[in-house]
Amino acid sequence: MLKLDYNYMMSDFIGGHGIAIADFNNLKSKFESAHKAMEDKRKAGKMDFRELPYNQDAVVGDILDYAAAMRDSVDAFVVLGIGGSALGPMAVHQAVNNPYYNELPRDKRGGNPKFYVADNVDPERLTYLFQAVDPAKCLFNVVSKSGSTSETMSQFMYIKELLEKTIGKEESRRRIVCTTDRHSGNLIKIAKDEGYKTYYIPSGVGGRFSQLTPVGLLPAAFCGIDISALLEGAADMDKACLNPCVRENPGYMYAALHYILMEKGKNMSVMMPYADSLKYMSDWYAQLWAESLGKRFDNNGREVFAGQTPVKALGVTDQHSQVQLYAEGPFDKITVFLGVDEYRETLLVPKTYQDISSLGFLGGVTHNQLIQVERMATEYALLRAGRPSMTITLPKVTEHTVGQLLYLFEVATAFAGELMDINAFDQPGVEEGKNATYAYFGRPGYEEKKKEMDAKPEKNNDYII
Ligand code: PA5
Repeated sequence: MLKLDYNYMMSDFIGGHGIAIADFNNLKSKFESAHKAMEDKRKAGKMDFRELPYNQDAVVGDILDYAAAMRDSVDAFVVLGIGGSALGPMAVHQAVNNPYYNELPRDKRGGNPKFYVADNVDPERLTYLFQAVDPAKCLFNVVSKSGSTSETMSQFMYIKELLEKTIGKEESRRRIVCTTDRHSGNLIKIAKDEGYKTYYIPSGVGGRFSQLTPVGLLPAAFCGIDISALLEGAADMDKACLNPCVRENPGYMYAALHYILMEKGKNMSVMMPYADSLKYMSDWYAQLWAESLGKRFDNNGREVFAGQTPVKALGVTDQHSQVQLYAEGPFDKITVFLGVDEYRETLLVPKTYQDISSLGFLGGVTHNQLIQVERMATEYALLRAGRPSMTITLPKVTEHTVGQLLYLFEVATAFAGELMDINAFDQPGVEEGKNATYAYFGRPGYEEKKKEMDAKPEKNNDYII
């Protein structure tokens, strides 16, 4: 099980910028109401992500059968999706699989296809992808809950035409699999009309909470990841997160520690994994934390401009980049280290240069020790500087512990939303940008938005060339 060590969040260790026991005691009734709201929402079916560890036996079976049937006939599995439809699949793949997965010969990938995620619509990206892989030998997974996101749907339209021109309509059908809402949106209509294989995102699960639905499970299964173990890990964490006592519930505690310090002006949440395998976990977390908690209005319609800015860092790399700022810059950050007890490999530094004392000490040390010591050293530097930090330690990076980690952050985000009295499950700021794009291109139904945009003031000549 993961360990959450929050000692250095506490004022006993870091002084004035930390949390006192009294801070917890003062929030007792807030914690109780937030827990009650979580329970009530769960019972009312408004927190469907919490059912995912338990209610997907049939879909897991279907995914495994489909992956087994298709795997050998494709060179690459390509996700077309963005935001919540892309970051989770990338994070889990990076965590569990070899970092050079795509460069390995197929037998060293367990016979599995290569894996790509085409999230951005930078025209160079997709063009160059097809210089690396033959589109006719790919399986494209179009992932969109709404079925209307411009980035994903434009990629789908491009690829559909490309495939139909090269391998014909009939074979193209086998090369496209959709993941979308069962009832609403364009993608489900298209999938039905075209006869594409389709998986469903439960309607009560939003994009950034959907990694443990077919959004994440299908790509993971194609990459040889044990999806049942992912869900079992999530189920373990769910049980730990049922505890009504905040100080015994890892999800609640993570949220409470952040909430208390957010109220004291710590408006940045740095995530710093000390493992390359967890690097993209910070990207996934950044979306979850930012999009869920960054809200203009609270649940009573009051303007609150709530939220905490997530910052992505990587240990040890960013010790040589950002840590100077964390230790001596503004007192506005909480740093969350992700540590690993047992790395999957061991690398020993040979005992060369024993005659040079300033290098000889490294001889006989493993990189495993070095990375652990450097994490502790950074934690110590922040402690000395009176900066709050906590460490979540994974015994080892496996499907099981990754499932625990994903689920921990999801519960923490939902509980933080309750403490902040905001809706953690909507994203009106994102919708505004999506709608402006639709209006710009003249999508029917967006005429008013277009007029509103056309009426915006012209830019001045405030530029330099
Ligand atoms: O969390 C969210 O809801 C968003 O980030 C969406 O996942 C993202 O905008 C993509 O939306 P969709 O899945 O509808 O294409």
